[in-house]
Amino acid sequence: MTLPESGNSTVHYATGHTDRLITDFTEPIFAAAFQCYFAELGIEVPDWGRLFRQMNDEGSNTALLRTAADGRDIGFIQFQPIEFTSWFFRETCGFIREFWVAEDVRGGGHGAALLGLAEAHFARQGIHTSILTTDTAPDFYRKRGYIQAPGCEARNGDAVFVKRLD
Ligand SMILES: CC(C)(COP(=O)(O)OP(=O)(O)OC[C@H]1O[C@@H](n2cnc3c(N)ncnc32)[C@H](O)[C@@H]1OP(=O)(O)O)[C@@H](O)C(=O)NCCC(=O)NCCS
Repeated sequence: MTLPESGNSTVHYATGHTDRLITDFTEPIFAAAFQCYFAELGIEVPDWGRLFRQMNDEGSNTALLRTAADGRDIGFIQFQPIEFTSWFFRETCGFIREFWVAEDVRGGGHGAALLGLAEAHFARQGIHTSILTTDTAPDFYRKRGYIQAPGCEARNGDAVFVKRLD
């Protein structure tokens, strides 16, 4: 499996599902999946259009959206490169920003597959560290090779996890 490289390109699989690379977050097919995710979290958004336009304005944001053969949303992973710098060091990491698989298809391997595709995408871009925060699925990430980074703080206060990508 390889993530499509640019634009809103798609990859179709023999299993019937489709992976689509999203860079315009106002696209209804992405917006619908994202709204399901926030509904599950109980997060209300007064102006969805504004939120999706903000995602676009962040520039380097990308998402991989997976849909079933019948068009239903399976899930998505949204990520962007993020640079950590000091006067001496610099590293660009791959930041997994939002990640969701529809409840009725959880446990079927889609989450692991989407995460793996995002990591492979980072590695192809010369990014060797994946970073994220989570308060919902730490064990999912541990199983996928992530370790908690206790000295690293995130603005949302959640635990930070990192993985070195080979
Ligand atoms: C986390 C999430 C994306 C995983 O998607 P998924 O399709 O269920 O994942 P997979 O089927 O690939 O699961 C892989 C493994 O992780 C385990 N797992 C899945 N979700 C888990 C969780 N929340 N906590 C611990 N383990 C989890 C599965 O049991 C499976 O274990 P196995 O390899 O021993 O069989 C999905 O549970 C989800 O959308 N959760 C709600 C939103 C969320 O928490 N997003 C992450 C924000 S940081």
